[in-house]
Amino acid sequence: MTYVVTGATGPFGRLAIESLLRRGVPAGEIRGTGRQIEKAADLGVEIRRADYEDAGALREAFAGASRLLFVSGSEPGRRQAQHANVVAAAVDAGVELVAYTSILNAATSTMDLAEDHRATEKLLTDSGLRPVFLRNGFYYEVYTAQLPAYLEHGVAGAAGDGPIGAAARADLADAAAAVLTGEPDKGVYELAAEVFTLAGLTELVTEVSGKPVGYTPLTGEQYREVLTGAGLPGHVADFVVGIDLGIAGGNLATSGDDLAKLIGRPPVTLREALAQ
Ligand SMILES: NC(=O)c1ccc[n+]([C@@H]2O[C@H](COP(=O)([O-])OP(=O)(O)OC[C@H]3O[C@@H](n4cnc5c(N)ncnc54)[C@H](OP(=O)(O)O)[C@@H]3O)[C@@H](O)[C@H]2O)c1
Repeated sequence: MTYVVTGATGPFGRLAIESLLRRGVPAGEIRGTGRQIEKAADLGVEIRRADYEDAGALREAFAGASRLLFVSGSEPGRRQAQHANVVAAAVDAGVELVAYTSILNAATSTMDLAEDHRATEKLLTDSGLRPVFLRNGFYYEVYTAQLPAYLEHGVAGAAGDGPIGAAARADLADAAAAVLTGEPDKGVYELAAEVFTLAGLTELVTEVSGKPVGYTPLTGEQYREVLTGAGLPGHVADFVVGIDLGIAGGNLATSGDDLAKLIGRPPVTLREALAQ
């Protein structure tokens, strides 16, 4: 078997490779790909340079692959063309299974962020390959990275009472490795450890830190003003506001225990992640 993991130079791909190794896959059967390959040099597996823009490099990098973990790219606007190159190279390599990191509710989500994922899921479905869609919730890390700001300024956002399906990135990567090494019983997994709101997040931050933290619900316009006032370029602020409005619209709602079942243990909770 040869397991190929794209995005091995990023945190998710790294965690997935570490999980493959923990699951007993020999290092010699794992290959990672990325652009800045020096970032993955310490993983102890072969790493090949392959930009999603470079169809030839992808074909070479995937040669001989049995199973592919296709980690979605990080450049909205370029991703659909890039992902088409990845799918074509996977077809060329004749991989028997492709696990793709998608987004919760990709088929129906109205979030801008979901468009590339929906298009990629369709490409994979139409490709003749055997795809497994790992519809990942948001990483807790998206929020825990903001803890210092929460403690100083409180929590603010335009997500209203929208449910945020989320999980620790490491648990989502572990689930990806479980699918890659196992016999997946489904083609679509909706993956989250728990669902919280910004108000709930604020309560937990208060509880865990012991410091009273406030929550300021904002309209999209108000949130945009806060973000641009803090120095964010307009287009980035629009992107961030769009995510919150998408959450307010219920696009990250989810239920079920796909994640716990795949990883075979209770996933890390938001409280634990904040405490860490
Ligand atoms: N669920 C969530 O909350 C959430 C949050 C953020 C992102 N995501 C998605 O999940 C993916 C993995 O998460 P992450 O935390 O590891 O993201 P990340 O830190 O942005 O890393 C992205 C990875 O994708 C690779 N990549 C990006 N563009 C590429 C290209 N054109 N060609 C080849 N490789 C490319 C990067 O390679 P190099 O570093 O070598 O350039 C890196 O390995 C992201 O790419 C994004 O699609 C999900």
